[in-house]
Amino acid sequence: MIIGVPKEIKNNEFRVGLTPDSVKVLVSHGQILKVEAGAGMGIGVSDKEYLEAGAEVISEVGEIFRDSELIIKVKEPQPEECKLLRKEQILFTYLHLAADRRQTELLLESGAIAIGYETVKKGGDLPLLAPMSEIAGKLSVQAGARFLEKSFGGTGILLGGAAGVLPARVLVIGGGIVGQNAAQVALGMGAEVSILDTSAGKVRSLNDKYRGSIKCSLSGTDSIKRHSQASDLIIGAVLSPGAGAPKVVTRETLRIMRPGTVIVDVAIDQGGCFETSRPTTHEDPVFVVEGVLHYCVANIPGAVPKTSTFALNKVTLPYIIKLATRGPDAAFTEIPGFSDGLNICKGKLTNKAVADHLELPHVDWVSAIGEG
Ligand SMILES: NC(=O)c1ccc[n+]([C@@H]2O[C@H](COP(=O)([O-])OP(=O)(O)OC[C@H]3O[C@@H](n4cnc5c(N)ncnc54)[C@H](O)[C@@H]3O)[C@@H](O)[C@H]2O)c1
Repeated sequence: MIIGVPKEIKNNEFRVGLTPDSVKVLVSHGQILKVEAGAGMGIGVSDKEYLEAGAEVISEVGEIFRDSELIIKVKEPQPEECKLLRKEQILFTYLHLAADRRQTELLLESGAIAIGYETVKKGGDLPLLAPMSEIAGKLSVQAGARFLEKSFGGTGILLGGAAGVLPARVLVIGGGIVGQNAAQVALGMGAEVSILDTSAGKVRSLNDKYRGSIKCSLSGTDSIKRHSQASDLIIGAVLSPGAGAPKVVTRETLRIMRPGTVIVDVAIDQGGCFETSRPTTHEDPVFVVEGVLHYCVANIPGAVPKTSTFALNKVTLPYIIKLATRGPDAAFTEIPGFSDGLNICKGKLTNKAVADHLELPHVDWVSAIGEG
């Protein structure tokens, strides 16, 4: 198969879909690799390294989209990239369609086969979302701590406090991968940390794990209001796979929060879990609503592209090898949970959660992929 790796063009996105090591592995499986010139620049990888790994380095992105049967990216295709996609071409990348009707429409129009990293399943887990969730969770507290500093617009509170001065209170809503990584970093920085989650089983297992060092309890309207009022930093880390994020913190709750509270809405890539959130970028990451500082960067791991690229590639490579060597139909059959990643196939929506959220019809992947 011809596999294309374009340079990411989203604001401040420096990650790349394949590292030279992954290219080498794919070449050893008989694949032809076309990498856009400068694609690895943001992580300190030169075109020469891709050439040495066996790829062709292409200066025209149009040529990559024209010639490749499989396109490997990191972030969702931007409108100009969607227009380059063609019928039955396979796109494997993060999509987050529930938060993006325009992208959904453009991908449907393209006729391409769009597989989203974030909805591929393995047992009950999301193996291709997990590494980025781990990184985003850790970074969310780093970002939150920075924006609590006075010169960044915060109230001037240090997460860990000082001798004789109480630490800051950090609330994490959603105790999954993002939430636990955020909570552990906040705890490590000396903050007083609580986690709220709607799953009783999750709360029970978190309480067993943290044994009181992090207080974990059931999430609900009252508990969210009570904790929000008392917190200095709130991390939004909820997920309902594929669907839009539930709005767990309303504008009304913001009004009872202390002015200068910082919220980091990590779930913004799924539409955000604060009613007042809207996506921001690393270039212009924050805005203020009702006196509360909102940090809503949709590609948080993009801040550490080197770590993120290697972590992502490690988990995506086995799926890419299977796709390239066996084709999508066989790959979906042979790897359990891979077909859950298929969001759009030849003009049809195949992910039920996305379709329900956008109020669009959907079909099952077997019938969609079988269509010529
Ligand atoms: N902005 C970014 O750069 C970035 C990067 C990675 C992940 N994310 C996003 O972060 C979010 C969390 O990802 P994850 O991997 O931790 O998911 P996860 O599935 O591991 O955890 C989600 C948790 O949220 C809980 N939950 C669901 N609804 C809830 C509600 N109403 N109230 C409280 N808890 C609720 C679930 O029980 C689960 O424990 C996702 O939206 C993901 O797309 C964003």
